Amino acid sequence: MRASHVQRSASAPAGLLGTMVFPRVCAARRLGRAVARGLSLREPSRPRLCSSGPRGARDEAPEARAYFTTPIFYVNAAPHIGHLYSALLADALCRHRRLRAPGAAAAATRFSTGTDEHGLKIQQAAAAAGLPPAELCDRVSAQFRRLFRDAGVSSTDFIRTTEARHRAAVQHFWAALRARGLLYKGLYEGWYCASDECFLPEAKVSRQPGPAGDPCPVSAESGHPVCWTKEENYIFRLSRFREPLRRWLRDNPQAITPEPFQRKVLQWLEEDLPDLSVSRKSSHLHWGIPVPGDDSQTIYVWLDALVNYLTVVGYPGAEFESWWPTTSHVIGKDILKFHAIYWPALLLGAGLSPPHRIYVHSHWTVRGQKMSKSLGNVVDPSSCLDRYTVDGFRYFLLRQGVPNWDCDYYEEKVVKLLDSELADALGGLLNRCTAQRMNPSGTYPAFCATCFPREPGLAGPSARAGAEDYALVSAVAALPRQVADNYADFQIYKALEAVSSCVRQTNGFVQRHAPWKLSWESPVDAPWLGTVLHVALECLRIFGTLLQPVTPSLADKLLSRLGVSATERGLGELAFLPRFYGHPCPFEGRKLGPETGLLFPRLDQSRACLVKVHRT
Ligand code: MSP
Repeated sequence: MRASHVQRSASAPAGLLGTMVFPRVCAARRLGRAVARGLSLREPSRPRLCSSGPRGARDEAPEARAYFTTPIFYVNAAPHIGHLYSALLADALCRHRRLRAPGAAAAATRFSTGTDEHGLKIQQAAAAAGLPPAELCDRVSAQFRRLFRDAGVSSTDFIRTTEARHRAAVQHFWAALRARGLLYKGLYEGWYCASDECFLPEAKVSRQPGPAGDPCPVSAESGHPVCWTKEENYIFRLSRFREPLRRWLRDNPQAITPEPFQRKVLQWLEEDLPDLSVSRKSSHLHWGIPVPGDDSQTIYVWLDALVNYLTVVGYPGAEFESWWPTTSHVIGKDILKFHAIYWPALLLGAGLSPPHRIYVHSHWTVRGQKMSKSLGNVVDPSSCLDRYTVDGFRYFLLRQGVPNWDCDYYEEKVVKLLDSELADALGGLLNRCTAQRMNPSGTYPAFCATCFPREPGLAGPSARAGAEDYALVSAVAALPRQVADNYADFQIYKALEAVSSCVRQTNGFVQRHAPWKLSWESPVDAPWLGTVLHVALECLRIFGTLLQPVTPSLADKLLSRLGVSATERGLGELAFLPRFYGHPCPFEGRKLGPETGLLFPRLDQSRACLVKVHRT
């Protein structure tokens, strides 16, 4: 909405914002108390918002609290693979975080997801389906809940915006904005896109031929139809927040990750930042939360939806203060403006801190086309979980999904990836090193330091390791750090690429030394045979540990087969090949876990078993 679209019908109240200055994320307690007293905060100098520079996120204390969120999903239609992808990214981040200090960190981690159930879009979808809105919401919300449960999304909270606790939070948040003089009544006149639930300036509207060939106005970005709207609404003084938002981003160069999205937001902040209409007439939009004290208006669905992140952590109760500054939102690129401009501005307006981090991902297309009901190409994620297994499909989406660019989905790609990386490379490696023929004692064999000395230059006559073997050891030793850095940068696919590359290197190591040609009976071969298997099993232990956030059941199967107990699976104490570095190895000589079949069976490509698409 452009400022020129808003004609003030009431004189704007003298705002508290004049005295409000930018709050510190780190000063949550003080801030919370001030907010509770309805005060604004003065900072002696310009604060840095919890960031410690470009590598800040990497060094967050594992015992510190962390709160991850997915977007809440519209219930106008059944879930698709893009929705699942959003949830899995957040799940993997959260699981990785918990592994950094299992126990303590797990207790200090919250992870919310849920459904966005109000607004014109849902009101219209319910009318089209001939259902009361509440019934449509119940049905579709249950589908999301089931999907996420089936896909192993380890959320601690599932919120629905139709819940009473949420209504109370939204109304409280509204009152906080009003108390600070940030809301006024004005005439909104402009375009509204119900599918995207957003206001659009003329420049963002284009014309497309409609059913009768006449030009119809649509959103230039999404292609969805827009309608001209003229009504008196409550308006939020968004325009006052340009400088505070810029400062937030300047001081927190990693606030929005990956970096191109942060640049995009900074660019938006160079443009016009008009005030924002935050309510609709209830005669037009009845399916929502009424404006406190004015039943003739319904709160704008985006304001309603964004507050879900506060509701989950108990806002406005005291409990939320200890979670709020630690928030990391995972979102798709289409909802960046809502999360990176409107939301931080609303939070600052209510006297709260902007989110700690916003992780942004791109979209999935299907065989090169945008998924859409009208094209009939919306891929049903539940049938993908059935067809490829839960771990298989989680691995595919997270291994192939690149946050910076859109990714394309098609069946053959899934089958090829899973067969080569999970079934052949990883499963084959485990099988080779644990098979009865190769490892008749069924134990983690001993490592022989004279066969594989720490310094290649000091090698004696019995040394057998070569340059490529040392390269393998240093690659796998560096892997946990590399994976952690990739997670911090929201490049989970790169973390998986790095694991996969090390799996290939380990297969090369086994192939090179062909343990099947060595004999346990030979006093010359046996120490080297044990060493080859020991190194390969150590590599597998690292891979299994690092894969837990992405393929939890497969990783569990792998680690159990290696005899790694539940308390030995954290990232905190993950020491690779301690014997090589002269330390004792707790696994050496330990009995392997029971054989439980193939780690990941190959998918049968010839079987014409196509994944279901939702009917149009
Ligand atoms: N309800 C809002 C979010 C409110 S959050 C306070 C919404 N819902 S949505 O159901 O349309 O989208 C939810 C998430 O799914 C968004 O992050 C969106 O980017 C993501 N995806 C929707 N289609 C997608 C793909 N095709 N691919 C990947 N993610 C996609 O927006």
